[in-house]
Amino acid sequence: MQTFNDTYTLSNGIEIPCMGFGTYNAKGGDNLAINKTAIEAGYRYFDTASLYETERVLGQAIRESGIPRKDFFIVSKLWIDERGYQEAKDAFERTLERLQMDYLDLYLIHWPRGTEGDVDWKEKDLDTWRAMEELQAAGRIRGLGLSNFLPHHLENILENCKEKPLVDQLEIHPGYTQEAAVRYCQEHDIRVQAWSPLGRSAMLENPILKPFAEKYGKSVAQICLRFLLQKGIIPLVKSSSMERMKQNQDIFDFEITKEDMYILNNMPQNTWLGEHPDFAIPKKRSNFEQ
Ligand code: A2P
Repeated sequence: MQTFNDTYTLSNGIEIPCMGFGTYNAKGGDNLAINKTAIEAGYRYFDTASLYETERVLGQAIRESGIPRKDFFIVSKLWIDERGYQEAKDAFERTLERLQMDYLDLYLIHWPRGTEGDVDWKEKDLDTWRAMEELQAAGRIRGLGLSNFLPHHLENILENCKEKPLVDQLEIHPGYTQEAAVRYCQEHDIRVQAWSPLGRSAMLENPILKPFAEKYGKSVAQICLRFLLQKGIIPLVKSSSMERMKQNQDIFDFEITKEDMYILNNMPQNTWLGEHPDFAIPKKRSNFEQ
């Protein structure tokens, strides 16, 4: 990847930008203004989800930008309690209604399983996937993917699907590289994307990363993003300021050496900072907009 506008080709042939903008939990709450600023800063790939409650304002920001829909790459996700055959179809219609769009570039299952009571999670994921495959066959989604699926969740889909998952979105940042899951995805031609590529900003003060920022004359955030780019992982970064949005795109004029990549890949691993697909499953959404 040489520039911010470069793309990867996914396994079904569609092009995906090498960096995306995350719309979860934007600081300050003025999501409309943040999305408008992100469009102005040059972002075209936006990651949203029914959980985030940002679909409506993202759709509005895109419409008001005057830029054609086809110039954007829009990804959304259905939540844990929207899994199931009919549930997934209904969830998809709600998502498109909120976005005021007639198709999605990618649609993902947000989370592989619910809490302890969700004993038939494998079956539910497959019913969901079947509904998504039908929506894709009807031309309403360009590609299908997963989010927070580890190898044992992925295998259930891979062994039973007609359409292969194209992407898997995982929490990844220096210090939490999830090598086993990343390797599994790469072996199966599934493009990995990183949510919270800055570790929910916790990595910005990391004492191991700071000297690398000084060495390369970049910020710690830029080191984290460049690290992911060099691993072929798509960072989905969030920010509420134009300055930092731009800074996060400015990672194409330097290269982290092979030796430094080894060091960063092998720095002490901390725990997940968000949730975990098996051990810290979000219980339920709050105040969810239908
Ligand atoms: P802000 O909105 O003030 O820019 P993550 O994506 O890992 O969850 O991290 C998101 C957090 O990182 C946001 O709170 C955002 O805050 C902050 N952030 C994003 N880009 C930068 C940057 N270049 N420098 C410092 N903080 C950043």
